[in-house]
Amino acid sequence: MKRTIRPAKTLSGGVEPPGDKSISHRYAMLAALAEGTSELRHFAAAADCRSTLDCMKALGAEVKLDKNTARVTGHGLRGLKSTRRALDAGNSGTTMRLLAGILAGQTFTSQLTGDASLQKRPMRRVVGPLREMGADIRAREDNFAPLEIRGGHLHSIDFQMPMASAQVKSAVLLAGLFAEGETSVTEPARTRDHTEIALEDFGAPVEKHGKTIRVRGIGGDNGSLNLQARSLDIPGDLSAAVFFIAAASIFPDANLLIHNVGLNPTRTAILDVFASMGASLQMLSVRSAHGEIVGDLAVKGAPLKGGVIAGDQIPLVIDELPMLAALGPYTELGIEIRDAAELRVKESDRIAALAENLRRMGATVEERPDGLRVEGRHAGKLRGAEIQPYGDHRIAMAFAVAGLAAQGPTVIRDADCAGVSYPAFFDDLDRVAER
Ligand code: S3P
Repeated sequence: MKRTIRPAKTLSGGVEPPGDKSISHRYAMLAALAEGTSELRHFAAAADCRSTLDCMKALGAEVKLDKNTARVTGHGLRGLKSTRRALDAGNSGTTMRLLAGILAGQTFTSQLTGDASLQKRPMRRVVGPLREMGADIRAREDNFAPLEIRGGHLHSIDFQMPMASAQVKSAVLLAGLFAEGETSVTEPARTRDHTEIALEDFGAPVEKHGKTIRVRGIGGDNGSLNLQARSLDIPGDLSAAVFFIAAASIFPDANLLIHNVGLNPTRTAILDVFASMGASLQMLSVRSAHGEIVGDLAVKGAPLKGGVIAGDQIPLVIDELPMLAALGPYTELGIEIRDAAELRVKESDRIAALAENLRRMGATVEERPDGLRVEGRHAGKLRGAEIQPYGDHRIAMAFAVAGLAAQGPTVIRDADCAGVSYPAFFDDLDRVAER
């Protein structure tokens, strides 16, 4: 389905992003491993998190989804059951990588697959450490899904993570829950810590010292440990809110309130990037919720300077880079992204998809192996164009925002792909855009 974005005059009103995708995956998995029924309110309305719920259901948890409330009944840490059908992670890298950790610790064999895009994404990064812990895992070309995971008796490891990835960290910690002894993961740079927070909230023995996280498993003298079912509210997804922060920033007289947004410090580096570029952002009613932080964001239009995003900043803003790049032509100095080769193995090759679609809109772009440079306002105004998102939700949404201030209409092909994280995105955007 195509979606046409007509230029807007400004943005105003309020919007509430869907429940956080990263947190929803983790709560759904841990609830399925807990004893009893967990109630997960404001569960992400994202196809990705549906994939996680479906997988946990196939593994024996009872799952009910009523509007945005997921009720998941688990049967304890040893309560999962084998299923003959392959578990389908759809488009979701988080589902596949985190679940691989859980399945490595089971006493049965599982098949784990995904859509065409997910089958092209590297899995060796989780397969490697899980094998080290004792799991027997087969992968296509030893790197890609479908995966066959023969779980079994795992032993703990001290894993020095070679890359900054929350998914890899989480896969090892989740496997560590089932191992004998204490598993530790040391990160080279900080990544989102929702797994650690959620593990603690469900009652798992987890500790954090600097960049090292430890979890004690049930394989040894900790065999009687169980997770407790929880009643939890999921904060709105900051990575979804970012599309509205960007959109409001472009229009000088825009005034937007974004309600109920997750403000976990391992996710808010993007707000620092916006602030350093001159955006007008205010956090209101900041509160805590089950170890996570939540607040509202007031955004006003302001001229953006642009700048360079690189190094240790990259893993902390990895999902927001498509929006930042697509904002480049609306900034004074342009946007340069370095050290982000990881973007090439996301839901699409995001560097190539950004460069191609920015050029379609008339931007001046230099594509590099590990990033890109997008020229700022001096290179001319963007014009509406037909956008090819390559099935990638964040590319589709980033260019819908870029199209709001372009000359002439922008057509987003295959716009439904936004549903991977944010099914109501185009309707919400339409509601706050004044024409
Ligand atoms: C995620 C971690 C990040 C991010 C992804 C969600 C998570 O991936 O890009 O959208 O929920 O742990 P990496 O761990 O591969 O960096």
